[in-house]
Amino acid sequence: MAEKPKYYLTTPIYYTNGLPHIGHTYSTIGCDNIRRYKRMRGYDVVMTTGTDEHGVNVERSAKNAGVPESEYVAKMAAQWKSLWDELGVQGDEFIRTTDLKHAHTVQWLFKLFRENGYVYPGHYTGQYCIFDNAYVDVKPGENCPDCGRPTETVTEENYFFKLSAFQKPLLDFYAKNPNFIQPEARRNEILSFVEGGLRDLSITRTTLRWGIPVPGEEPHVFYVWFDALTAYLSAVGGPQYEKSGYWPADLHLVGKEIIRFHAAYWPAFLMAAGLPIPKQIWAHGWLLMDSAKMSKSQGNVVRPRPIVHVLGMDALRYYLLRETVFGQDGNFSYDALVQRYNSDLANGLGNLASRTAAMIEKNCGGKIPKAGALQAQDTALAKEAQAAIGEVMEHYEKLEFSRALEVIWSLISAADKYLTVEKPWSLGESGNEQQRRATVLWTTAEVLRVVTVLTHPVLPESTAKVWALLGQPGALGAVDLDGLAWGQLAAGTALGKSQALFPRIEKAEAIERMEAMEKEAQNAPSPVAAGTPAAAPVATGAAASGAAPAAAPAAEKIGIEDFAKVEMRVGQIKTAERIVGADKLLKLTVDIGTEIRQICAGIAQFYEPEKLIGRKVAVVVNLAPRKLRGVESNGMIVAASVGPEGRPVLAGFPDEDVEIGARLK
Ligand code: MSP
Repeated sequence: MAEKPKYYLTTPIYYTNGLPHIGHTYSTIGCDNIRRYKRMRGYDVVMTTGTDEHGVNVERSAKNAGVPESEYVAKMAAQWKSLWDELGVQGDEFIRTTDLKHAHTVQWLFKLFRENGYVYPGHYTGQYCIFDNAYVDVKPGENCPDCGRPTETVTEENYFFKLSAFQKPLLDFYAKNPNFIQPEARRNEILSFVEGGLRDLSITRTTLRWGIPVPGEEPHVFYVWFDALTAYLSAVGGPQYEKSGYWPADLHLVGKEIIRFHAAYWPAFLMAAGLPIPKQIWAHGWLLMDSAKMSKSQGNVVRPRPIVHVLGMDALRYYLLRETVFGQDGNFSYDALVQRYNSDLANGLGNLASRTAAMIEKNCGGKIPKAGALQAQDTALAKEAQAAIGEVMEHYEKLEFSRALEVIWSLISAADKYLTVEKPWSLGESGNEQQRRATVLWTTAEVLRVVTVLTHPVLPESTAKVWALLGQPGALGAVDLDGLAWGQLAAGTALGKSQALFPRIEKAEAIERMEAMEKEAQNAPSPVAAGTPAAAPVATGAAASGAAPAAAPAAEKIGIEDFAKVEMRVGQIKTAERIVGADKLLKLTVDIGTEIRQICAGIAQFYEPEKLIGRKVAVVVNLAPRKLRGVESNGMIVAASVGPEGRPVLAGFPDEDVEIGARLK
């Protein structure tokens, strides 16, 4: 048998100083979708994901948690890994940048740079963004132009990589490989970046301790981006990459904010080492929440687990890939998520599967019937399904996931319409009518089979159930997509057991459950904290000095200047009303002395709106405005969170009549 062609793809290697949100999930699921699709096209696929575990951020997070860095990253990496497992992501390699084999690859690559004359020692002073792990082109005191956080002036001795020498080779490479950077807009961005001239890049650090050491050059450790990019290669053999046969990578799938590292620095590093360059870098857009990039620092993250818990993992996968054009930014909303679940999954695919199976069960003794003479409507549907097979594969091939799903769902609605027009349930028992019913039901079941195969990469769990329901043999993931054609459904096949696919769910209730779980997750203690049972015993500051070990993560202390940043004032509630579709929220207008503000408060289950009018409350007035369930909220009412269910009790001033607008200090 001919050997399968190899296909190697990667997700970004995620930072371990935070836990995954659905922005990260978006990259990973996109990648997993391609992986499953390529497998069904007969490739021998390897997909790498992993964790980027070095750098100042990790040093700081571990210190805050009161544990050594190695312990901190081990626990965080385990969290990332287990989430991907829960989401049905089939990563083949999980590389951690603290793996020994990875350190060897990084050191080997650096050695090649040196041998080939692409590194030299020097000094660098610049503004450094610790969060992005990069020097940025701003003046001291200015914030990072990418993430808006403060920068720090850093002077250090380090080794420079001669990136400037690669301007022409990179431009030549882009010209020869026009599909190397996708989509087109990103390609243009990188072309103009490289055409604008490249400055040499410092690839070692002496200001950092938690990194891979540069052999013989201590205290130099490698720059985290050089370290992390190399993980793609370490995962498939490192210096022995030729043996594994998976290098160069076919695809690095990344978010658009890290395209420069992948499309300019990484190929330059590989050129300097004389190694093959990956075939494609593909940058997807961002998931936005209230029009801002979802990120921990913005405090607007949504986690995958509550969604999976309430709607199932396939619902999340479907929503992420269907709702937004891959490559563009898209807004996340619980409302749209549940809407999609009910309309496309429950009423669309789920309904087609259950009604088809029920009719076959009832009228054909639970066996796929044999089609008789075909009428024009039957052949029209057959034609549409056959055409869909080619179109969907073409869209998957170009990572046009939402378009692939559009094609599949228009086939589902064509089958629904077909059933509505043909009404197999109203046909009688005469020979002709029985035969007609058999033809209609076979045709519908065949559409369902085609849809099931085509949708499998996106909905692995539920399509496997439909596959079993149709009595089809073997694992659905092993079906050869290239061999898929109309007409292969064998008559006489006994249907399998019917299993619940997508039970319909009441929107408001689903949203409430997901939001409640999300809130709980946000308040949960960090999975890494000194004194947590899973932590190895370590002599942290407190424990070593004889103090009792902390039961909860040590909260970082803040200075008075940090507290002073929060502006709290006395406000008086002027109006209060419920918000349709949001059981927990009240929309309030509050007089804060200088103006009347609209503020949403999650107190609807505990306070009658009418009774709040005139009440004086404490208001945080300098919070950035945000939208809650579509309603703008400009400030926050302060409340104690009481008991296990977090019942809100408004902070107030019962003893004295305080002036509206007075500042709380
Ligand atoms: N560690 C680096 C990547 C090194 S790759 C050699 C890093 N890590 S990260 O944890 O910040 O993850 C970044 C990736 O997560 C982004 O490239 C993107 O793929 C994904 N996303 C994070 N937030 C996102 C959104 N809000 N929306 C979509 N994707 C986002 O950068």
